[in-house]
Amino acid sequence: MAAFILNSYMIKISLNFGSKNYDINIGKGILQKRIFDKSIRYAIITDSNVRKLCGESLQNLLKKQGADVAMLDFPAGEESKTRETKALLEDKLFEMNYDADSMIIALGGGVVGDIAGFVAATYLRGVSYMQIPTTLLAMVDSSIGGKVGINVDKGENVIGTFYQPKGVIIDIETLKTLPRKEMLNGLSEIIKCSMVRSYNFFEYLEKGIGRSDDNFYLYSIERCCRLKARIVELDEKELEFRKILNYGHIIGHAIEANEKYKISHGEAVAVGMAYEGLISFQLGLLKKEDLERQNALISRVGFPTRYEGDVSKLIEVMKHDKKRKDKKIHFVLPKTIGEVIEENGHVTLAVDETLVRECLNN
Ligand code: GLY
Repeated sequence: MAAFILNSYMIKISLNFGSKNYDINIGKGILQKRIFDKSIRYAIITDSNVRKLCGESLQNLLKKQGADVAMLDFPAGEESKTRETKALLEDKLFEMNYDADSMIIALGGGVVGDIAGFVAATYLRGVSYMQIPTTLLAMVDSSIGGKVGINVDKGENVIGTFYQPKGVIIDIETLKTLPRKEMLNGLSEIIKCSMVRSYNFFEYLEKGIGRSDDNFYLYSIERCCRLKARIVELDEKELEFRKILNYGHIIGHAIEANEKYKISHGEAVAVGMAYEGLISFQLGLLKKEDLERQNALISRVGFPTRYEGDVSKLIEVMKHDKKRKDKKIHFVLPKTIGEVIEENGHVTLAVDETLVRECLNN
């Protein structure tokens, strides 16, 4: 009976940007029940792994429904998030005469969503696209809010734009084949989401974080999507408020860069939150008890709360971070669990390099 209820359960979250409204649909088994519009020509863009795991079945479903659909893929991995991959995908779309009324389906994790969304944003000056994330990280973060782009030598995502999809379909059935390491990546962003925006959700995670049942994931994904939807509605282009989602990411990105991306994004952000929380505590903003609760949750997921590498290098990387505006380093800092510091309409705080160094050496 419970399984029946779960299977027929679909959560709908609407995003409202004036003229660009769309829905996020979340559920279990909802993809195979989806009715696609057969008057539209679809192009599924995916990677070499997801193609086999869910791309072929989605293509068959669309074909069965009478839709015209092709599948384009590229080698899985962050290394593919390049100008070259984007150009190859565009050339394939031209070869197959995809026109401005076509729709791109971004099926995969964050890399797929970013590239396919960026192709959609510029192909024939913009075609519609739909996000179908297949990793926990993409479900709770990158598929929501329209950030699309690629990496170049100068940095990650420094070429890109904001381009909202026509819809997001999150089917937790696709998580069944996701490696454990990838699930952990998502859990780190889930903790971040609760830390910046919801004490109640944080408490829920404290009770449920070891659980891996469908209800835990459905509820956590729903909460993150709802929180993120409200944030991006208020500040779609990240002029200020949306930056709260960067909590843990300034130090996290520095760790990733220092480790040459051999460390997972989830682990880097988890360690980043531990240090950025410590900075907030040292500034007399976050209570010790709250910092300890955050770090205990991070540890329960299995992530460290300390960086064992060369911390002096992290400062150097942060100095080159595009988010750095002057000689100090700007951080999003929690004031309590579920709320960040906001001062004069700003959600980042300039912190002296000396204090950052002290915290990293702590
Ligand atoms: N990943 C943070 C954001 O979408 O703003």
